[in-house]
Amino acid sequence: ITIDVAYRFFNTDKRKFIIADTPGHFQYTRNMVTAASSSELAIILVDAKKGISKQTKRHTFICNLLGIKGFILTINKMDLVDFSQQKFNSIFNQYKIFSKQLGIDSFKAIPVSAKHGDNLTTRSSRMKWYKGLTLLEELENYDLNNSINKNRDFVMPIQMVSKSKENKRTFFGKVIQGHVTEKDKVKILPSNVLTTISKIMSPTDKTKAYLNESIKVNFSDEVDCSRGDVICSKNSNVKIADQFEVTLIWMDNSHLISGRQYWIKIGTKVILGRIQEVKNKIDIEDFKLLSTKKLSLNDIGKCILITNETIPYIPYEYNRELGSFILIDKETNNTVGAGLINFALRRSENLFYHKITVDQKQRSKIKNQKPFVIWMTGLSGSGKSTIANCIEKKLIFKSFHTYILDGDNIRLGLNKDLGFTISDRAENIRRISEVAKLMNEAGLIVITAFISPFKNERSLAKNIIGEDKFIEVFIDTPISIAEKRDVKGLYKKARQGDLKNFTGIDSPYQKPKSPQIHIETTKNSAENAADIIIDYLFKKIKKFN
Ligand code: ADX
Repeated sequence: ITIDVAYRFFNTDKRKFIIADTPGHFQYTRNMVTAASSSELAIILVDAKKGISKQTKRHTFICNLLGIKGFILTINKMDLVDFSQQKFNSIFNQYKIFSKQLGIDSFKAIPVSAKHGDNLTTRSSRMKWYKGLTLLEELENYDLNNSINKNRDFVMPIQMVSKSKENKRTFFGKVIQGHVTEKDKVKILPSNVLTTISKIMSPTDKTKAYLNESIKVNFSDEVDCSRGDVICSKNSNVKIADQFEVTLIWMDNSHLISGRQYWIKIGTKVILGRIQEVKNKIDIEDFKLLSTKKLSLNDIGKCILITNETIPYIPYEYNRELGSFILIDKETNNTVGAGLINFALRRSENLFYHKITVDQKQRSKIKNQKPFVIWMTGLSGSGKSTIANCIEKKLIFKSFHTYILDGDNIRLGLNKDLGFTISDRAENIRRISEVAKLMNEAGLIVITAFISPFKNERSLAKNIIGEDKFIEVFIDTPISIAEKRDVKGLYKKARQGDLKNFTGIDSPYQKPKSPQIHIETTKNSAENAADIIIDYLFKKIKKFN
């Protein structure tokens, strides 16, 4: 009917139903994933004449991956095979072997003829050998206790917080696991603060709230809790972490860039994070694992996700809401991926931040300065390194304590292992930003000279270093001039095709839209540029004093 997901609604005396109808072709994997992610039961439709096909297997795989527990193998067009029990059994047995391989323990199988109505809502008189229920009866009788959210511990992500005139705060959310009663003790995550529910407003009960209800609650004391936090019973299965093994389904035409920052939406929380590594992808025709570093449209693979903050989660296997997330591109705002949390990595679990007694203020004070990062961005050969030298010379002359982080130098040491793919450049900038931050902590003024061609990574640098310390300087040299200078002979190599991914030639440079300082090198000498930057820096330092 559609290339998206079509939702159809109907009810019988026993139940209400929503059918998510999706196209089955490989190119619509992302649509199938969307439909399966909110479904409890899958009807796998097989043509009795054709038997189990590649699509049958792919559909079953996706439904199983997305946590659907109920499967009804519906063998259609039985009229075209003379209602043959033998044919039905043969398809049933094939599917049994296949589904077992995926870890599906049981499923129902029904022979039907959709065209004539056999075994849909009424028993077929033409297949007396079939003793089971009709398709509708199966749907009506399916036990929802089989579904994924089995755990009974109370969990509710906070969707909204409102404040009354008297400053009384009310918390809104939907119960995604278990139930809650007034006077229950609850825990707020990720802060781990304990409090008590003083009042519940739910649609059905005055003092209790049940699974899937959208409710309001008040706490007995004034504790910190905001949108994206999770409240849960004291011993619930919600944990907190910032590194995960995930299964990621890529949904965008442009491929995943590991190392790059994306918005991550999990439950009601939106944070920044990155896919640190793609471990493999699965060939969804034969279920073999392929080793890869890249995910493209409709690829499904295992990856390492790192979030910038610690977040509450439950593995997808136990909870769909807190176990799944979407990835949003920071620039286009498109949903580019959907993921399932398999488990948290323990590597950060046993680390505890050690507070150093001497702090940044004391370190800067003895140096008699304020730490900043002068972040220069521009094409190769734009003059960043030359200007950096001028700035440092002038600052040292005035007794400031400085250090230069320069692209080529860092790539000869700390970042020796990195090349020039977008992912490697992202990792380059991440590491440098962490180093610049440490140098700031030590009280130094840091001058950086990296092409840093992408907006995304420059914003990452600003996040890591801190907006108040970050001065973005665009060293603006037209490519024709940088190429004419070609001090290192790299433009020539790139033009000849001997150097790949060269910025400005076959890899893009995204100009900063609103840098604090914009230097046009065709109008300013390096000395001039250094003076402009130092002037700006001194004004900033004064503001801080
Ligand atoms: S960045 O893009 O990751 O910020 P960085 O500033 O560290 O780049 O390194 C750029 C320097 O590496 C250039 O000045 C140049 O000397 C060298 N280089 C070697 N290969 C490339 C390439 N493919 N693209 C850009 N610079 C390259």
